[in-house]
Amino acid sequence: MDQLRELVNKLQQVCTSLGDNAGNSRDDNLPSLWEVLPSIVVIGGQSSGKSSVLEAVVGKDFLPRGSGIVTRRPLLLQLVQSKAGAKEYGEFLHKMGEKFTQFDAIRQEIEAETHRSLGSGKAVSPDPIHLTIHSPDVPNLTLVDMPGLTKIATEGQPKSIVKDIEDMARAYIKGENAIILAVSPANADMATSDGLRLAREVDPAGERTIGVLTKLDIMDRGTNARDVLEGRSVQLKHGWIAVVNRAQADINSKMTMEECRKKEMEFFNGSPHYRGLRNVGMSSLTHKLCRKLEEAIVRQIPKIQQTINKGVQDMQKELKALGPMTANNRGAMVHEILSMCREFDSSYATMLDGGKGGG
Ligand code: GDP
Ligand code: NA
Ligand code: MG
Repeated sequence: MDQLRELVNKLQQVCTSLGDNAGNSRDDNLPSLWEVLPSIVVIGGQSSGKSSVLEAVVGKDFLPRGSGIVTRRPLLLQLVQSKAGAKEYGEFLHKMGEKFTQFDAIRQEIEAETHRSLGSGKAVSPDPIHLTIHSPDVPNLTLVDMPGLTKIATEGQPKSIVKDIEDMARAYIKGENAIILAVSPANADMATSDGLRLAREVDPAGERTIGVLTKLDIMDRGTNARDVLEGRSVQLKHGWIAVVNRAQADINSKMTMEECRKKEMEFFNGSPHYRGLRNVGMSSLTHKLCRKLEEAIVRQIPKIQQTINKGVQDMQKELKALGPMTANNRGAMVHEILSMCREFDSSYATMLDGGKGGG
């Protein structure tokens, strides 16, 4: 199964380098695999804790943070698990070939690229920033961090911003290939959760929505989230996972990710309300994401294969037209995607066989 996630990841990378860009500037002659390959899209209100959740999945601090609207373009984040001992680095699509080994520099580049494309104002754009992180410590996952949903435009923001952000989120989650991670802070009323509302709208049956509850540590004293976590309050087919990430003060005092995970464990183990629950903590969330992504890939396989088959025909025609392969970048890439398509087919077949053998 992990192999399948890895392959889908590779296919996405190749698509990206071929200009098949999650809905943008698509090359008509190539398969629009981004539209069928599953990814996980994180939505929720501003400051609900989306970026903190993503950073916790990666285990590194690398996202711009602050109050107000910080994430102004979607961040398409591909996590690629490398071999044990390999050096970790990030690479941006807009700076191909440059390896960012410092995660602070990754954050600065996200900020700089946002600024370059949108200026210092408060405008938003649906055009994603692509970042790939290679590390032995990450699972093979593709995640999209979205600008946070808001209820009202604040000083200096165009009036249309509320709708612009919502339309953008909707566009990213409406496809059946999207797994929706709906983030809601536990210290606010569920009924006001914009993330949940939007998830419900595009996925009424909750087939592809996972609820994430953040900020359990700062709930009003005397209240707790047990009802939500046990599915009595807001029902979601795939349930809820509760997490505790760092408060701003923790970040200011340089609390590390490891310390944060330890604090999270202590919080859940130390509270009588949550003792015995299995759907708590970042490691539960990461496991769930991997499992749900695998299920989504299996669900999408007929569509992936259909798209691949059509693309393979078109690409073979193109290859013929391109002539001999010598030093032809485009041809080499087309070759690469073709061989990955074959690899995808054969490892899926192997997996099915393995599944049968294992009962
Ligand atoms: P985003 O706008 O949805 O991406 O939210 P962020 O991840 O940037 O978080 C917004 C603020 O909430 C930051 O100051 C975080 O430090 C803080 N925060 C996030 N998660 C938690 C949590 O579980 N507990 C506490 N106390 N603070 C959190
Ligand atoms: Na936000
Ligand atoms: Mg954010």
